[in-house]
Amino acid sequence: MRRPVAETDARRLLGGGPVTLVTSSWHGKSNVMPAALVTPLSFDPPLVGVAVHPSRHSYDMIRYSEQFALNIPGRRLLHHVQYLGSVSGADVDKLELTKLPTFKATRVEAPLIEGCVAYIECGVEDALRTGDHVLFVGQVLAASADAEAFDGTWLLEDDDEKPLHYLGVNFYALLGPKMEARIPKPQEEAEKSLEEAFEEEMQAARDEEERRRESGGKAGPEEG
Ligand SMILES: Cc1cc2nc3c(=O)[nH]c(=O)nc-3n(C[C@H](O)[C@H](O)[C@H](O)COP(=O)(O)O)c2cc1C
Repeated sequence: MRRPVAETDARRLLGGGPVTLVTSSWHGKSNVMPAALVTPLSFDPPLVGVAVHPSRHSYDMIRYSEQFALNIPGRRLLHHVQYLGSVSGADVDKLELTKLPTFKATRVEAPLIEGCVAYIECGVEDALRTGDHVLFVGQVLAASADAEAFDGTWLLEDDDEKPLHYLGVNFYALLGPKMEARIPKPQEEAEKSLEEAFEEEMQAARDEEERRRESGGKAGPEEG
């Protein structure tokens, strides 16, 4: 059965991308806010976007400094993420209050937050009004990631090294096991090969489940 989803909740159907902690710095002060409205925008030049509501203190900091950094937290920062989204840098110094350790970025003034699994440093290329938010288009100036977390794609081997994903309200999740899709060969009968690939995938999942049961179910369900 399918049921209608409120238009204002449709964005959550696209949710599940890594949540970010957006850091900014202006006139010697730094701030951090969680943002889920983030997206890659271009390969060459490498551009990423973050949609920030003009009411956020971070909005002014990013607009004036024309820089920001995206820190991608793992599950260890779950409660910090939620907290940092509930108070404004206009009222409190969130980095000071949470005692989150930071370190210097390589290309921007915004500090990077220790303990995140990856970082993207950006210079603002453009700012586009998109409804009630403003999409800051950031040119990627530098990026880095934990070697145990990412080697060109997310590794997803260790739960502590997985990026945290935001589902909406105060719900978060981690991605499950990585799956490898078969690369189509030219001249292949698409329908047949796709069916075969699907069968292989299902068999692999059944084998994995069997192995888990035999080992006493040590590998339990994902947290988050
Ligand atoms: C998980 C999460 C994701 C959020 N995503 C966004 C977002 O993409 N854009 C935005 O403007 N606000 C977003 N918010 C709200 C801001 O983080 C929140 O209003 C924050 O307190 C703003 O801080 P500031 O005023 O110090 O900039 C999000 C909040 C949470 C908890």
